[in-house]
Amino acid sequence: MPLAAEADGATIYQARCASCHGEDLRGTDKGPTQLSIVYEPNHHGDESYRSAIRNGAPQHHWSFGNMPAVEDITDDQIEQVITYIRTQQQELGFEQ
Ligand code: HEC
Repeated sequence: MPLAAEADGATIYQARCASCHGEDLRGTDKGPTQLSIVYEPNHHGDESYRSAIRNGAPQHHWSFGNMPAVEDITDDQIEQVITYIRTQQQELGFEQ
């Protein structure tokens, strides 16, 4: 089910990303923490977020398998979810 257009970044994250990346961004057995230093903006810039969400990402940094493309998400929702993750990364801080 596509989310309502007005869904905010946190809602989109919880609906579309948390099952693998964790409700608290710290990862699950299906995907890595978003607080790893490898996801800081100079290493994985917003463009690699857009690409991972639209196209998926082949396994390369971890051993969780491939990230599938996220279906039924609008460009606006992608920008909102990236903004949410960047804000959380700043508030929570990166792990090594
Ligand atoms: C079905 C599980 C799953 C879902 C859902 C998922 N991801 Fe991922 N994601 C992964 C896995 C697994 C990797 C690690 C790939 C690797 O080995 O580097 C990953 C990697 C990434 C990366 C890094 C890509 C790269 O170029 O290295 C980003 C950014 C990312 N995810 C963002 C998101 C966002 C934002 C969402 C929600 C809109 C999301 N993911 C939903 C499983 C998932």
